Amino acid sequence: MSTPPDPSSARPFGSRFAASAEAGKRDRPVIAIDGPAGAGKSTLAAHLARRFGFLNLETGAMYRALALKAIENDLDFDEEAPLLTLASQTNIALEPHRDGNRVLLDKQDVSRRVRDPDVTAAASRVSIHPQLRAWMVAQQRALGLAGGVVMEGRDIGTAVFPDAEVKIFLDAAPEVRGSRRFQQNSIAPITAAPPDALTAAAILRDLQERDSRDRNRVDSPLRPAVDANVIDSTSLTLTEVIDRAEELVRAHLAPDPARHTLPPT
Ligand code: DC
Repeated sequence: MSTPPDPSSARPFGSRFAASAEAGKRDRPVIAIDGPAGAGKSTLAAHLARRFGFLNLETGAMYRALALKAIENDLDFDEEAPLLTLASQTNIALEPHRDGNRVLLDKQDVSRRVRDPDVTAAASRVSIHPQLRAWMVAQQRALGLAGGVVMEGRDIGTAVFPDAEVKIFLDAAPEVRGSRRFQQNSIAPITAAPPDALTAAAILRDLQERDSRDRNRVDSPLRPAVDANVIDSTSLTLTEVIDRAEELVRAHLAPDPARHTLPPT
């Protein structure tokens, strides 16, 4: 796993944070965003990364990339050992960009292919294997070690960075997530499956199937960390979700040292 080559592309606002005057607060924190498919995690993560000048890392893309390689190698998604061997021979890189991650699988750009329905289903299946998850988690920790990242996934706040400074669990009712995903596919065919590839009903069914697998797997099931801030976006607008999340991040950022300067006597 190589680190993103162009962090500046994710920092258009060039935010700078002063050294923290408060113990325990890092000026380059880890922001963990977890939640089920279709809750709007990627949109929120991309926004927060731009807003605060952090890197945006979509960990689901790593599971998708490995799943794609498993498909290409005709592997059984239920067999962990061959998948692990495959992982050990695989290089997955995420390049954060303004609106999301470019995904490189063994140096090949697979950003679009990994969004296809067959890869989506396969990613959910390969991600149940504990040792494979350990391999992914090790790489994700290395990527986020220096802080200054918004890391999005299913287990970031519970397993990858249990000590993340800000944890957000973004949820929404399945029907709402399904219809958002359908609309997203219809208006964004470049990054998602073609609009007519799946009907709204099929999207909801797929989403619920993935939900069930993600929530019920033995290792690191999808659930909010005990100290996560749960945002249910079912009846919130995107702006409302963003406002709440920004408030949480701001509350954890290092305070401006200027505010601690005593006035001249
Ligand atoms: O976020 P996504 O839809 O791209 O994720 C694809 C699959 O990868 C998802 O069904 C579950 C798995 N995943 C995971 O188990 N843990 C993560 N941190 C991210 C994704």
